[in-house]
Amino acid sequence: MSATDPVTAVAGTNIALVKYWGKRDFALNLPAAGSLSLTLDRLGTRTTVVFDDGDHDRLVLDGAPASAAATARVSAFLDRVRARAESARRALVTTDNSVPTAAGLASSASGFAALALAATRAAGLELPAPELSALARIGSGSAARSIFGGFVEMARGERADGSDAIARPLPEGDGWDVRLVVAITATGPKAIGSTAAMTHTARTSPFYAAWIAAVPADLAAARAAIAARHLPALGAVAERSALRMHAAALAADPAVIYWNPATLAALDCVHTLRARGMSVFFTIDAGPHVKALCRAADADAVTAALRAVPGVSDCLIAAPGPGARLVPAAEEQP
Ligand code: PMV
Repeated sequence: MSATDPVTAVAGTNIALVKYWGKRDFALNLPAAGSLSLTLDRLGTRTTVVFDDGDHDRLVLDGAPASAAATARVSAFLDRVRARAESARRALVTTDNSVPTAAGLASSASGFAALALAATRAAGLELPAPELSALARIGSGSAARSIFGGFVEMARGERADGSDAIARPLPEGDGWDVRLVVAITATGPKAIGSTAAMTHTARTSPFYAAWIAAVPADLAAARAAIAARHLPALGAVAERSALRMHAAALAADPAVIYWNPATLAALDCVHTLRARGMSVFFTIDAGPHVKALCRAADADAVTAALRAVPGVSDCLIAAPGPGARLVPAAEEQP
């Protein structure tokens, strides 16, 4: 049997404004609470999948054969696709991240969104977007959100099979001209991966239950702020959600500390800009980088200010972007 036609998909990463930090089920990667994010037009992943007669799955990541651990994670995900497609064929997966690799910025959200779309199509499946979102979630919780563009809400879901733990777009936010300025404060991989850190937080942090209990109100406030296009209201939710997530992690035993001195200096810079009247707000993920939410018209000024912060090595401006999509064969690079 010959190889299937290659299928290429691209997806943008997303940054959560109401964070996901905790799971109610590990095998299916079901979140303990909902979350809300913005999908970005850059910092994404392009992935090509071909099913062929190989005797194992192969992963080429940013031009080089991937580690055994990364390949095993992708292979376990492909097992789910194979089960649905009733196929046993192995795959060659070629994936490139437009995230600067040394930046230590997470690429699993865009990575598993692009892989879910490319692998299902290459296996002959055409899943509706909500099912694709549920599938991408099994690869990485945040990947469920990158199936959709713009502002996206991820539901906690109630069902044990995870079929309702899916993301949905929030079209009320379409066309809102905001930007996320990503300030890079370190190089290299993050200190501790998100799954391990979430598990550790849930088991040992006395603040975990309070953190989870606070999420529904933050989701409601974020939804209302997006519908009203009220940046200060959305920014206030984003800052308190990020700080409460990190507070829960900081209170774990031993502590999970993602911040470095430049992280705090960047927060201070955002506060200073705000004190001068600019509408700019921060969020921080499972790493030391700071992302600043602002109006498009202020993005250059925010970038200039953050670049001047000691320890900030680079700044990137990202705009709202589309959801995961196929790349027509004619546009594929050789
Ligand atoms: O998708 P994961 O398992 O890498 O977890 C993402 C966790 C955060 O980025 C810190 C928060 C979020 O909601 O994206």
